[in-house]
Amino acid sequence: MGKLDGKVAFITGAARGQGRSHALRLAQEGADIIAVDVLDQVGSVGYPLATQEDLDETVRLVEALDRRIVASKADVRDSAALKAAVDEGVSQLGRVDIVLANAGIASFAPVGELTDEMWDDMIDINLTGVFKTVRAALPHLRAHGEGGAIVITSSTAGIKGMANLAHYVSAKHGVVGLMKTLANELAPEMIRVNSVHPTSVDTDMIHNEAIYGLFMPDKAASEVTRDEVGEIFQALNALPIRWVDPVDISNAVLFLVSDDARYITGVQLPVDAGSVIK
Ligand SMILES: NC(=O)c1ccc[n+]([C@@H]2O[C@H](COP(=O)([O-])OP(=O)(O)OC[C@H]3O[C@@H](n4cnc5c(N)ncnc54)[C@H](O)[C@@H]3O)[C@@H](O)[C@H]2O)c1
Repeated sequence: MGKLDGKVAFITGAARGQGRSHALRLAQEGADIIAVDVLDQVGSVGYPLATQEDLDETVRLVEALDRRIVASKADVRDSAALKAAVDEGVSQLGRVDIVLANAGIASFAPVGELTDEMWDDMIDINLTGVFKTVRAALPHLRAHGEGGAIVITSSTAGIKGMANLAHYVSAKHGVVGLMKTLANELAPEMIRVNSVHPTSVDTDMIHNEAIYGLFMPDKAASEVTRDEVGEIFQALNALPIRWVDPVDISNAVLFLVSDDARYITGVQLPVDAGSVIK
């Protein structure tokens, strides 16, 4: 018996990183998966986003757990593509019970150097994309009348300010307002809405030359090692660790979407190695 037997989860940004980990963790507990990812580059992002091969690997890994998955290319900025993806998923898998608005990007600059493109891409994907994701899934979440759970991936940057990340911090704070509003609107239908707030997570979003160059500006980014940036990442956390693993976030998400959290709605759950209280 899994904690999510008979449930279907719609996950954005599921080709790799935390999104893939969430798909696998939920599938281990019996859920079937509707997965989308942009599978394309975004102009202002200085590291490669996921590929079709990445999404294929998520499909392979979920199917290896004997679960079903309907995966497709969809950009969270594109309402029609999201609707088509979730509608197709429901036509094959029957329903949606869980929505994980996980897709996101990062880019870095102090406010005076943030371009319109950096700001607009960030807000369009990390804030408006979350709204569009939830809106696309909502009719299906409501249709069966059995309640459901939405988890929005924010960040410690959704709790505190951070230099070089005004656009990211604004988007990640913005989704908290969306989460609290949705929690109120959907509570009568027993649809719970919460946010997770990770510290640094060991994914491609932090392990790339754009971040390495920002953290160690005196060295060529291509020569910076994981160990060197690890010390800087560790200084952000209270617990003496560099970063958490994607599965640490997946376990928190699993808790929030399962009946273990059946009366928890409207909360911000940090999974942050104490970085917020430091
Ligand atoms: N890695 C970290 O340190 C960290 C910390 C806190 C919060 N987060 C958040 O966690 C979430 C997952 O990030 P990750 O760490 O797995 O990084 P990642 O880059 O490995 O994964 C993000 C995924 O989102 C996809 N994506 C990007 N733009 C998209 C779009 N417009 N439409 C659909 N898919 C899109 C990417 O292709 C990628 O597969 C993001 O919301 C991120 O902001 C990450």
